[in-house]
Amino acid sequence: MAHIAHDPHARPDGKTTMELGAVLPLTAEVRHDHLFIGGVDTVELAQEFGTALYVMDEEHIRVQLRNYLEWTRYHWRDVDVVYAGKAFICKAMCRLVEEEGCYLDVSSGGELAIALAAGFPAQRILAHGNNKTIRELTECISFGVGRIVVDSLEELARIDRLALEQGTTQPILIRVTPGIVADTHEYIQTGAEDSKFGFGLRDGLAMEAVREAIALNGIDFKGLHMHIGSQIFALNSYAKAIEVIVHFMEEVRAKTGCVVAELDTGGGLGIAYGVPDEPATIKQYGKVIVDDIKEHCEQHALPVPRILVEPGRSIVANAGVTLYTVGTIKHIPGVRTYVAVDGGMTDNIRTALYDAHYEPTIANKAARPRDTVVTIAGKHCESGDVIAVDTPLQHTEDGDVLCVFATGAYCQSMASNYNKQVRPGVVFVRDDTARLVVRRETYEDLMRCDVE
Ligand code: LLP
Repeated sequence: MAHIAHDPHARPDGKTTMELGAVLPLTAEVRHDHLFIGGVDTVELAQEFGTALYVMDEEHIRVQLRNYLEWTRYHWRDVDVVYAGKAFICKAMCRLVEEEGCYLDVSSGGELAIALAAGFPAQRILAHGNNKTIRELTECISFGVGRIVVDSLEELARIDRLALEQGTTQPILIRVTPGIVADTHEYIQTGAEDSKFGFGLRDGLAMEAVREAIALNGIDFKGLHMHIGSQIFALNSYAKAIEVIVHFMEEVRAKTGCVVAELDTGGGLGIAYGVPDEPATIKQYGKVIVDDIKEHCEQHALPVPRILVEPGRSIVANAGVTLYTVGTIKHIPGVRTYVAVDGGMTDNIRTALYDAHYEPTIANKAARPRDTVVTIAGKHCESGDVIAVDTPLQHTEDGDVLCVFATGAYCQSMASNYNKQVRPGVVFVRDDTARLVVRRETYEDLMRCDVE
């Protein structure tokens, strides 16, 4: 985004913070003009912990996990919820996921190390990745990771060899690309045939992988996995993909005699970043996933498998906000007003990368209407370093605490040290209490890996 076009139609929306509806964390409220989350004053959090700062509403995360458990198991008892750690992971998050009785998906050795350090049971971990290294595979097998989701024939052979070397068999799922193009940003579509992920159906590779998996002694073939993309609003994308994959389950039984015992339908449920966004609810999602699997299994006279779902964003995105302190405010007559904050693309790359939309408020003026239009810029050396373009905001002054909503997913986890910015800390808030779960980096951290 080299040039940010001015939107001549941008208007103040006059909305106050609480009018941002589903974009907000569950426990958000306004008291005496200040934004509170989890009963804690965010303006005080900014003072105590410094900015930029990620704040996560613990209650919101727990409620989302419970909603997934409830609304999937409502339709079929044998469902497990696997939280996708790539959306946001740290030791405290892993513990919370475990406490709520969910599983965890990791997509690298680093995520696995964090989960294990948090005491997360390896049996309840699924390992993902289109190019897991030998070291990562070895770690998964030796720590007893519950499922490795296999992405290529080479990987299947590697797992077989490593498992046999360790005198064990490794339970796996085969990742299938159902050929469905989900209605979302093309960078986060993953189920199409031209994808670096998984085995295609039409080219016969998925069947070949299943046959191999059944034949290999070091492999315990448990079932199939698919993931069609992220930030998906249209539930019929899932319905189409389920139809395709259950049909494939039937083909597997016909050609190999093997009944697929588990089906993981991936993650991807969208969330509200802006007021007009109306994503499907977890209840609606649960019904489509489970009912459609049941219906198609019935049609093919297949037993209903154990079902796994892998939500990431819809668990944590709206639970999280980022707090910044406003610095320079630059009015360019006839062009726009830039409000610059003490963070930017290093703590939230999503606007620069996907043109993502964010809703901000001034945390210390939260009861006032958003009656101006500004562009929120970061402090980094790129003109594409913006968080929100032509967004409504309260009248803003130097020193105000700016809160950006819906930053709980894929912001901290995609943060960088560009310009040698220290990455923000993470605070969990709940029941009028704040606890620091990840501290802000220090300058020393920035040099920790320099060996001379
Ligand atoms: N399972 C697999 C195999 C995945 O690859 C993903 C996300 C998920 C589950 C969780 O999907 P979710 O429920 O969070 O949509 N950085 C992008 C999103 C990339 C998603 C990658 N895979 C963003 O900021 O929008």
